[in-house]
Amino acid sequence: MATARLEGITKSFGDVEILHGIDCEIQNGEFIVILGPSGCGKSTLLRLIAGLEKITSGTIQIDDRIVNDLEPAERDIAMVFQTYALYPHMTIFNNMAYGLKIRKMSRAEIEKRVQKAAEILELTPLLKRKPKQLSGGQRQRVAMGRCIVREPKLFLFDEPLSNLDAKLRVQMRLEIRKLHHQLNITSIYVTHDQVEAMTLGDRLLVMDKGLTAQIGTPLDVYERPANIFVAGFIGSPSMNFMEAQLENDGRSIRISKNEALELPEKGLPEFNGKKVKVGLRPEHFIICDPKEAQINLVTDVVEKLGADTLVHGFSQESKIAMTARLDGIQHFNRDTVLPFRIQSNKLHIFDPDSGKRIN
Ligand SMILES: Nc1ncnc2c1ncn2[C@@H]1O[C@H](COP(=O)(O)OP(=O)(O)OP(=O)(O)O)[C@@H](O)[C@H]1O
Ligand SMILES: [Mg+2]
Repeated sequence: MATARLEGITKSFGDVEILHGIDCEIQNGEFIVILGPSGCGKSTLLRLIAGLEKITSGTIQIDDRIVNDLEPAERDIAMVFQTYALYPHMTIFNNMAYGLKIRKMSRAEIEKRVQKAAEILELTPLLKRKPKQLSGGQRQRVAMGRCIVREPKLFLFDEPLSNLDAKLRVQMRLEIRKLHHQLNITSIYVTHDQVEAMTLGDRLLVMDKGLTAQIGTPLDVYERPANIFVAGFIGSPSMNFMEAQLENDGRSIRISKNEALELPEKGLPEFNGKKVKVGLRPEHFIICDPKEAQINLVTDVVEKLGADTLVHGFSQESKIAMTARLDGIQHFNRDTVLPFRIQSNKLHIFDPDSGKRIN
């Protein structure tokens, strides 16, 4: 176990700066998930921490030691990649033992560590097999076993599950979570899969184009996204956004002549009269009596997913595209007008210029 501290990390390839100053403090035993769209710099950040690339500026500290200039092998870090490349001609035991052998560890210690890791990962009956005799999920477990036996201070994962099919991914996700409970090794896990991020992370570091968009617990990030980017990136289907204006002493949000939402309590009097961007999550649309409707949604495509129904359409007056999520299976024809109220304490209000949350 270890703490890790990233301070002002930048990275340039040639004269292109990819990371623009990332800061993050990671606690002992914490599981941090780095989440962000493709190309935002997640793998680059992880490779810097591992020592596979040199940082351009900033500091990386593990426990009390600044590791900027240490070789990967000296950092006491183990990394699991998306492609786990096991040695095909070696048994599972030898695949897991290999890294320890080249470190000249004693046979007895190697035996002990591999057996222990195999037990944790339920690989004991498979130790004599070759990788091609294993399923994808089992191979991924071997790749993790290879890291566990090293008893590293820090675990780094770069999209370790993205080569597995959907069902196996869910299963491995739970196993990684359980493994973390058991071993409690400080971990940094990169993914662009939101569900993986929400379920695995103690905290998320959401990245946008080489910058930190938000750091917080999964619920923080979901319920109080710090900016429009995070609000739109986290959540599926995505949050609905619309332009609006604050009026009535900052208590009402005017979307169009006949469409308005109400903020709870005092509202945002300091922003009265200002243009804002409002975000509404699909699950906060509540069907209501037509007389009480705040938004009338004209249905277009209705997706029945089983546990819930997604209604895609547009608001009758302002024609803004919107998606509502309703419980259970609901039948609506195309072009039906559905009256909705929006839960007032679930509104997300942003400054349209800076993109920052203001409520
Ligand atoms: N060695 C390199 N030389 C030049 N540019 C690079 C190099 N490695 C990465 N990049 C660029 O840095 C940016 C970030 O890449 P990175 O691999 O960190 O993204 P990522 O967030 O991991 O994306 P993905 O989700 O697709 O894996 C990309 O624009 C990429 O093209
Ligand atoms: Mg990557």
